[in-house]
Amino acid sequence: MKKLDVASGQIIEDYVHGYATAEQERLLRQAEHWRDELILAGTTLYPGTRLLEVGCGVGAVLGILGVAFPGIILAGVDIEARQLEAARAHLTRLGLEADLRQADALELPFPDASFDHVWMMWFLEHLPDPVAALREARRVLAPGGTLTAIEVDYNTIWASPSSQALKALFVTVAQAMEAAARSDAGTRLPEWLVEAGFTSVDPGEIRLAYADEDLTRQVPYVAAVVESTLPTLTETSRASEPQLKAGFAELRALPITPDAALGWVVHKAKAVR
Ligand SMILES: C[S@@+](CC[C@H](N)C(=O)[O-])C[C@H]1O[C@@H](n2cnc3c(N)ncnc32)[C@H](O)[C@@H]1O
Repeated sequence: MKKLDVASGQIIEDYVHGYATAEQERLLRQAEHWRDELILAGTTLYPGTRLLEVGCGVGAVLGILGVAFPGIILAGVDIEARQLEAARAHLTRLGLEADLRQADALELPFPDASFDHVWMMWFLEHLPDPVAALREARRVLAPGGTLTAIEVDYNTIWASPSSQALKALFVTVAQAMEAAARSDAGTRLPEWLVEAGFTSVDPGEIRLAYADEDLTRQVPYVAAVVESTLPTLTETSRASEPQLKAGFAELRALPITPDAALGWVVHKAKAVR
């Protein structure tokens, strides 16, 4: 988790995925990967909607929403200037305008009731105090405004056929995310939203399960997410390095393993201010 030291203007603490160019490109591929199944499915945004994405990263999700819903007014904040620089370039390439600002989610640089919709995706899992960020999001929402938050629970990842190495890998990923901030953000989302004062909370639980060609598409994605936490994995793992390597090899081989399947639980929660 990163924090902005307001006095010095410096970023302090560390963020589990880092900010290398390869990671920024991974975020673009990740949003593209989830465009239809998670981002656009069940989302309706009318022209004129003032939308803020908190933790917007390189603008990947803003780009998808801006293209899919012409006429919405885009804004994004991220704590890291390098992400916003990449977001500006990405959104310009798409011909989209957005008000992008460097800020901490706990201190959004907008007056009360500035937005009709707040979006958060793969974001609350990085915060030590997600409820505080949700309260701050609620503050900038207009009365009747809505919020979408999408998060996974890393403790729910399963594969079939299973093995000790695969189980060790999945446990290690959950431990790494927990050490960085949260491993169970998806499952906790509904209660956090209520605690932050939101109403009409829809938990939006989605039990993802993939086999056959879908598995061939998902495995490289899951492997890339796991690999992006690799430095933290090797620091925090109770499993041995050879065991983790074996787990990776088995994960990558799932598409060619007979009758294989892979799944996990995601929440696309919605709530009203
Ligand atoms: C995994 S990325 C997700 C980006 C984007 N939502 C997406 O799906 O592509 C999480 C982002 O949250 C940002 N972030 C982490 N802590 C933050 C904070 N306290 N305030 C604002 N942004 C933060 C990171 O810099 C990073 O760009």
